[in-house]
Amino acid sequence: MSGEARGRRVVVTGAGSGIGRAVAARLLDEGASVVAMDLAPDHSAAGDADGRLLPVRCDVRDESSVSAAFDTASEFLGGMDGLVTCAGVTDGSPTAEMTLQSWETVLGVNLTGTFLCVRAALPSLLDGEDPAVVTVGSVGSLVAAGRSPAYDASKGGVLALTRGLAAEYADRGLRANCVCPGLVDTGLAGNSSARAGLDPVARSGVPGRVVPPIRRAAAPTEIADVVTFLLSSRASFVTGAAYPVDGGYSAV
Ligand SMILES: NC(=O)c1ccc[n+]([C@@H]2O[C@H](COP(=O)([O-])OP(=O)(O)OC[C@H]3O[C@@H](n4cnc5c(N)ncnc54)[C@H](O)[C@@H]3O)[C@@H](O)[C@H]2O)c1
Repeated sequence: MSGEARGRRVVVTGAGSGIGRAVAARLLDEGASVVAMDLAPDHSAAGDADGRLLPVRCDVRDESSVSAAFDTASEFLGGMDGLVTCAGVTDGSPTAEMTLQSWETVLGVNLTGTFLCVRAALPSLLDGEDPAVVTVGSVGSLVAAGRSPAYDASKGGVLALTRGLAAEYADRGLRANCVCPGLVDTGLAGNSSARAGLDPVARSGVPGRVVPPIRRAAAPTEIADVVTFLLSSRASFVTGAAYPVDGGYSAV
């Protein structure tokens, strides 16, 4: 590893599994200190990180939980230079069958949860070194990914929130970018494809958009690579961007 995140102080939400877990692991490998937040925080890497990892329980839907978790994070890290918002859920119900409760759960975790975490992190980030936010959207932020209107609406909102943040805080040195993955081989994709009774790759799209040009799902580490780049000073002129990491899905 190059050590490109050495000394960076980063909070990752949704770090208990999947993409968030891969991001936290990659940042630790690259020398960052990481607070890994989740409903069920993962302690498995704590022994290997020389005291640079703190798993913290946080429910991103809950304002007081977020506030307490970010207070703990700022204290542990001694400030904050980066935030990666990976916590997310999906629901594959078609519009006509979607309950209000499902809609509110998906919007609550994916969109409101992103807002609450960004808001809680901002005071520390604005005092940080080359501060950067990376939100995790989806191809559903860019195109109709199909099968979940709530999910696509939430992820469209995440991209809009990220662009707004980039515009609002550029003059204070904060960069904000949105990574938009296609299908990634995680619990979230596996669960939804299992519910739909479909193979994860075959599932990837609305009718007529069957598989991405790169004919497979991504590994979580392939998303973590791009997140790590966007957090780093190598991305110093990149802000307000939607970054597809989707095997070409949104290009065709
Ligand atoms: N897997 C995919 O194909 C794919 C594609 C595009 C975007 N994404 C996005 O990537 C992100 C990570 O998804 P993943 O595939 O790694 O799924 P995952 O289910 O493996 O991980 C999601 C994590 O979020 C946590 N989480 C859920 N609700 C939470 C809450 N209220 N508070 C705190 N943590 C909570 C879960 O405990 C879990 O650890 C999500 O935002 C998802 O929408 C995933």
